[in-house]
Amino acid sequence: MAKPYKYEVFTHIIEQQILIGTLRAKDRLPSVREIRSLYKLSMTSVQNGFEYLVMKGLVMSSPGSGYFVREVKDENIPDIQTHFSPVIRDESFMKNMILTSQQTSDVSSFNHAVPGDLLIPQKLILRTMQEVIREKGATLLRYYPSNGLELLRRLIAQQMAKYGCTLNPDELIITDGALQALTIALRSVTAAGDIVAVESPCVFSVLEVLSSLGLRVVEIPVHYRHGFDVEYFRKICTGHHVRALIVTPNFHNPTGILMKDEVKKELLAIAGDHQMCIIENDMYSDLYFGEERPRCIKSFDTKGIVMMYSSFSKTLAPGIRLGWLYAGEWYSRSERVRFVLGRSVSPVYQELVLKLLQGSSYERHLRTFRKKLEEQATRVLDVVRRSFPEGSYFHRPEGGYSIWGQLPEGVPMEKFWRYCDRHQILFTPGYTFSFADQYPHHFRIIFAERISSESIALLEKTGVKAHELLLER
Ligand SMILES: Cc1ncc(COP(=O)(O)O)c(C=O)c1O
Repeated sequence: MAKPYKYEVFTHIIEQQILIGTLRAKDRLPSVREIRSLYKLSMTSVQNGFEYLVMKGLVMSSPGSGYFVREVKDENIPDIQTHFSPVIRDESFMKNMILTSQQTSDVSSFNHAVPGDLLIPQKLILRTMQEVIREKGATLLRYYPSNGLELLRRLIAQQMAKYGCTLNPDELIITDGALQALTIALRSVTAAGDIVAVESPCVFSVLEVLSSLGLRVVEIPVHYRHGFDVEYFRKICTGHHVRALIVTPNFHNPTGILMKDEVKKELLAIAGDHQMCIIENDMYSDLYFGEERPRCIKSFDTKGIVMMYSSFSKTLAPGIRLGWLYAGEWYSRSERVRFVLGRSVSPVYQELVLKLLQGSSYERHLRTFRKKLEEQATRVLDVVRRSFPEGSYFHRPEGGYSIWGQLPEGVPMEKFWRYCDRHQILFTPGYTFSFADQYPHHFRIIFAERISSESIALLEKTGVKAHELLLER
């Protein structure tokens, strides 16, 4: 066997990196000096190595600037042997991830449950972020307290007090978003194998958290008129030891339903009778279309059995990784779980949200955002109710930004989804909202992107197609 060239110690690594995409076209390669000292090679060996890469067509040299990865046309890709096997990913997880986060264009993506680029207060956020960086400087590079900034916790508690909800800021924990808050809450009150009740339909991300913690799930149907199937829940609690109930009483995702206050109180009574903890999701409460923010279950809780969580992903921007958990009597366990999930939430996000809450800009943004969402809800609802075949149902949300729709049994759904796929119209299919495949004819329409006349035309076209599919049978 031929003796390997000395330079192969580094050229082989560069070739691999180009092949698997760690290095991409126009990326700068390490300098001759860096390679020399890293691999203890002579100058000549390093230069020979680079020449070899250039000859192979992988790299180009730019006099005075160094070596760069070349743009390679498909047919010229050299044949390099690799030892890397493809990454194996869970098929249904990947499918659900794509269905909830893929984006085609602003006009046809009705699947992404976060404020669209045009509705995010970009200028306000970016300007405030710059102010924070200027004012706080290098202190932002330190660890912050693992339960979060004290002033931020106090401001959140003050905000919630306006809605009749008294939270002790010392029992609040700042988290990296709502999903982390939910994970901490569940890890504090349950152990693998416990039974947890959720609303049905339930978003895929929450189901995924439950499954990753090895919890058993009972799905309790929501109710269009008053919010929740209390009788069914009562029956389940009599026969099983349900440890916790996860519930979004205000503008539940995906249905947009607002639970009646009497139902909130009934849930509290049932939970009290069965030594169960309620984990209340308050993410959408600020996005009400009515006169005022609805009450949360926590505000009726006199026994301290409600944990509560929220985040700013749905009201400001999903890239701001900041949420919170009110852990109450489970604080000490929650604090430890929070710690092991990461020493502290990014200081920049904590300072940013603190600054936004200290002024009136967040409130002002919410006022315009709510108005826009309500307007869009009406437009979307008008068009889908008018365009889809008789027997379809689209629920009018009372806040938030999702519409839950159901098509008549006769619509062949595989064909419907194939049509949407072909035309790149993205909704979230009903089957992602349950472990038990309960919603084959349902789908969620998100209206948190700016709804244009083109989006309206696409919804209309989809409705017409559903009609045709129904008639074909
Ligand atoms: C019910 C629910 N929980 C959690 C999340 C995720 O929120 P965050 O980005 O704050 O983790 C979402 C949105 O995707 C949601 O709808």
